[in-house]
Amino acid sequence: MKSVAGILMLMLALCIPLNAQTPSKDPKMDAFINKLMSQMTVEEKIGQLNLASGGGAVAGAKMGIDSMLKHGFIGASSGYSIESIRKTQQKAVETSRLHIPLLFGLDVIHGFKTIFPIPLGLSCSWDTLLIERSARIAANEASTSGISWTYSPMVDITRDPRWGRIAEGSGEDPWLASKIARSMVKGYQGNDLSKDNTILACVKHFALYGGSEAGRDYNTVDMSRITMYEDYFPPYKAAFDAGAGSAMSSFNVIDYIPASGNKWLLTEVLRKQWGFSGFVVSDMNAIVEMSNHGMGNAQEVGALALKAGLDMDMGSDVFFTTLKKSLSDGKVTQQEIDQSCRRVLEAKYKLGLFDDPYRYINVERSKTDIFTPDNLHVAREAARKSIVLLKNENQVLPVKKSGTIAVIGPLANSKSDMLGTWAFFGNNRDVITVYEGIKSVAGNNARVLYAKGSLYTADSILSNNSGFMGARNVVDFAQNEVLLKAALDTARRADVLVAVLGESANWSGEAASRSDIGLPECQVSLLKELLKTGKPVVLVLVNGRPLALPWEDAHVDAIVEAWNGGSEAGNAIADVLFGDYNPSGKLTATFPRSVGQIPIYYNHRNTGRPFDQKNKFTSKYLDISNDPLYPFGYGLSYATFEYGDIKVNKSALKGNETLTITAGIMNTGKYPGEETVQLYVQDPVASISRPVKELKRFNKVMLQPGEKKEITFTLNTDDLRFYNSDLKYTWEPGEFIIYVGTNSRDVKSVKINWLEK
Ligand code: BGC
Ligand code: BGC
Repeated sequence: MKSVAGILMLMLALCIPLNAQTPSKDPKMDAFINKLMSQMTVEEKIGQLNLASGGGAVAGAKMGIDSMLKHGFIGASSGYSIESIRKTQQKAVETSRLHIPLLFGLDVIHGFKTIFPIPLGLSCSWDTLLIERSARIAANEASTSGISWTYSPMVDITRDPRWGRIAEGSGEDPWLASKIARSMVKGYQGNDLSKDNTILACVKHFALYGGSEAGRDYNTVDMSRITMYEDYFPPYKAAFDAGAGSAMSSFNVIDYIPASGNKWLLTEVLRKQWGFSGFVVSDMNAIVEMSNHGMGNAQEVGALALKAGLDMDMGSDVFFTTLKKSLSDGKVTQQEIDQSCRRVLEAKYKLGLFDDPYRYINVERSKTDIFTPDNLHVAREAARKSIVLLKNENQVLPVKKSGTIAVIGPLANSKSDMLGTWAFFGNNRDVITVYEGIKSVAGNNARVLYAKGSLYTADSILSNNSGFMGARNVVDFAQNEVLLKAALDTARRADVLVAVLGESANWSGEAASRSDIGLPECQVSLLKELLKTGKPVVLVLVNGRPLALPWEDAHVDAIVEAWNGGSEAGNAIADVLFGDYNPSGKLTATFPRSVGQIPIYYNHRNTGRPFDQKNKFTSKYLDISNDPLYPFGYGLSYATFEYGDIKVNKSALKGNETLTITAGIMNTGKYPGEETVQLYVQDPVASISRPVKELKRFNKVMLQPGEKKEITFTLNTDDLRFYNSDLKYTWEPGEFIIYVGTNSRDVKSVKINWLEK
């Protein structure tokens, strides 16, 4: 067999297994899918890559959903109700030739019916077990109602609170966000995806979506590869390493190529570098929107997406309407279609849908497992732990359960605002508002009054733009006056005023960027009038992003950041206000003093001219300090914690040795309290400029009044690694500074030397 043809044949024989998908670790699954795929037409294969959902689906709509299902032209759908999911699944498996079940996905972002705080809030708990539990409960509830796939976790790092989607992620720190990402994947997927109460996670938005320029949603992203690898990629990678079975491509460009058509991102990084073997779905309509990015017509962007490594088209109908033509035009290959089809079928197989297409529809369990007292208990715990005490002077807090308490503000008795963004399926009716929570926790000992006090905003632009699907919200100034007057009458009759201010739930989340992140003027006017009464005022904030609060910080004694706290928000806030729970949350995103400081984040790099008061020619603003109002990691307690000096086992280390760091911490206050002790590292001299500090460890510790504990951390050289300018993940010997403290600003430090050998 020395002929050219012979060699070619030999090569062909060797190539076949290479060309086919690399075998998975499950030969049974491979055999099942091989057999199934051998029976599938190309149209049926393309059908598996089609997620039919609201938005696009023009061709689908023309053809009619039943006919689409019968022909096997739909592979997945966004699920809305248990009844419609059952019907659709039934049509798919009973009327189609090969009986392939559909995957039903949904945005189960921070709970299904039992709603937990928005992810940004949850992240402030720094409690990864609790976060995992919240995801477990969400999966358990959703999986009763036909949902086998959640479009979560959202792990986009962002340094821009103007971006409304900051609400959906875990803030600015890559290390903490990575831990949280892992916990969420574990919570959703458990150890066995085929169980009827575990669901497939979808890591989104891959990638860098949080880097949108100027905080405007869907905007251009442009950053260096080092920043990608160092600061923005880690949480995605952590979620994939934890076994997340799917990913969603983001709307933005990366190196000026949209994520959905970016081969470097979806194949080189995701599959080759990170070894991801699940499937990638586009974000809603993102494939067809590549045309707006300037990438060509529908057929061209469809081919670009498939070739880049994108497997499923959410909502834009482009795969369904153009891939077959692209195949006959030679723009995509059969192998590329097969590969994506296989990935989708594998997910269905792993979920057990081929064994039982109705596995995730369980009416019995929906009666016993949804919105249960146990779930609500965890939601209350999560909401308490998400709350961050920003200021507490003159011992305004905790409030006594006696006398008359007036709860005032547009967010004081609003149910939907407690839930926040992405809570369509939340049990709205049963949400506890702040007013209701305070009444119930105070019991019979206190009188609790309520007044709305003001509109959300008197700005008709903000009001109208945040209306859903163009709904207009009329701003009625006269009504605002009436509300204010009534609130002042109420305030006059009270001993303590709780002002509940912030953002309407639709001011954060998708397509909800703000250029001004302060409280709206009419709410600040209300606050000023309340302060004029001279009565103690507690400001409770309900919102989805860091706010700029310089005036409030200067004038109000007590400020509580409660976020959109979920089903039990009102009870949790009351627990904190009355001291039944001592707040312990710590910010995971910096609170700026002003929008002008954005982007502002703790792990920035030094300039060549660090700020120096005495020198005009140093890095600063003329009109505002460089410092944030509240730094990353910040959050007070009713207790006070005193940190002793940091001790290390060695100040000079070599190679594989372990550094042990010990810090004493004492509760010097009157209340038992939980502190999150934070450890940061700085690498002051390296081949590239390194951050001034990076979070590497933390430890949550409970202390009784007067109690003292020693907290020990260990580090090794893996904790010193970074991506150098060759994008090599390495560490460089030399001096390191270890910081331990109560937030990223207030720390004690010790220097060590770590040598290679
Ligand atoms: C959002 C995604 C979401 C998807 C499906 C998109 O507009 O960007 O986060 O998962 O819709 O609802
Ligand atoms: C400025 C330069 C200037 C140089 C010499 C520096 O501080 O940045 O623009 O040319 O001083 O005066």
